[in-house]
Amino acid sequence: MLRKPILALSASHGVRDLMTRLPLTRAVVDRFVAGETTRNAVTAVRDLRAKGLQVTMDHLGEGTTDTDAADATVTAYLELIDELAKAGLADGAEMSVKLSAVGQSLTSTDGHEYALRSARKIADAAYGAGARMNLDMEDHTTVDSTLQILRAIREDHPDVGVAIQAMLLRTEADLHTLTSAGSRVRLVKGAYNEPSIAAHQGPEAVDRAYVRGLKILMAGDGYVMVGSHDPRMIRIAARLAADNGRGADSWEHQMLFGIRADEQLALRAQGRTVRVYVPYGSDWYGYFTRRLAERPANLLFFLRAMITRS
Ligand code: FDA
Repeated sequence: MLRKPILALSASHGVRDLMTRLPLTRAVVDRFVAGETTRNAVTAVRDLRAKGLQVTMDHLGEGTTDTDAADATVTAYLELIDELAKAGLADGAEMSVKLSAVGQSLTSTDGHEYALRSARKIADAAYGAGARMNLDMEDHTTVDSTLQILRAIREDHPDVGVAIQAMLLRTEADLHTLTSAGSRVRLVKGAYNEPSIAAHQGPEAVDRAYVRGLKILMAGDGYVMVGSHDPRMIRIAARLAADNGRGADSWEHQMLFGIRADEQLALRAQGRTVRVYVPYGSDWYGYFTRRLAERPANLLFFLRAMITRS
């Protein structure tokens, strides 16, 4: 019920300024973000790997409107890949890339082409180091461009994965094109404020769409990444994997850093592959407000921290 108002409010520049200036916000943000620097990110990877968890790394930022910022994001990923390689941690690590952070939303030039070039650079570096790449999915207006970029990069790096949002009305048709052998797809519910012309509205409709999406993916030949903290979706995914005769090496769970960390370990202890999405960097606002919108308890946690610290 609070999801849409929070997402709408968080788009206001005034609210953004207020939240990012409050010193108290930082302590709360730290729960969801691994730190600001590459070094913080490498430390987080080391800690998670020591617990038997895999990682997918997100250099925070989105909606970049100038080429310098887009290039800086590419450089940040290249630096991270390099540092992970030096630390012996690159193998199997995944880079999650938001195309709007690397050029897709530029208006001064062809954003689609710019993002394609940027994503290629990250993919080349990642696969050169034994790591891999996944494209995040942003609001519904970006899906066609993102899928085109995915197909172009897969010509050189067939392993590149993509996030697909169950809430979008187009998703079942998209999923049917993404189930071939080797195709890695992360199914998520969808975190953006979407209109009814593009997306299912309300949690029950989105949950039903998520299950339909899982059925398509689990019955296909691709690698399935179950991006959800929802205990019901986790149970249903495991049942569908068993029904389709899938081995433990043909699908995995993915969860966000700092969310249901105990469940991440519990699933790992059952022999499942669990990959943690690790956001790092200073541009945390968009990511953080989507987490608040998903779960009112996160909002309460935030408000409580503000009250108890003041
Ligand atoms: P949801 O928020 O619907 O919660 C369902 C239930 O799960 C709750 O009722 C509760 O029982 C349980 N639960 C959830 N959080 C809990 C907590 N903190 N503690 C205890 N129980 C909890 N979105 C997008 O649009 N594009 C993308 O590229 C990505 N990428 C991405 C990667 C990964 C690895 C994940 C996990 C998620 C994304 N998302 C995303 C976000 C996604 O679309 C979605 O908004 C969130 O995952 C929230 O939906 P869930 O399915 O996790 O559960």
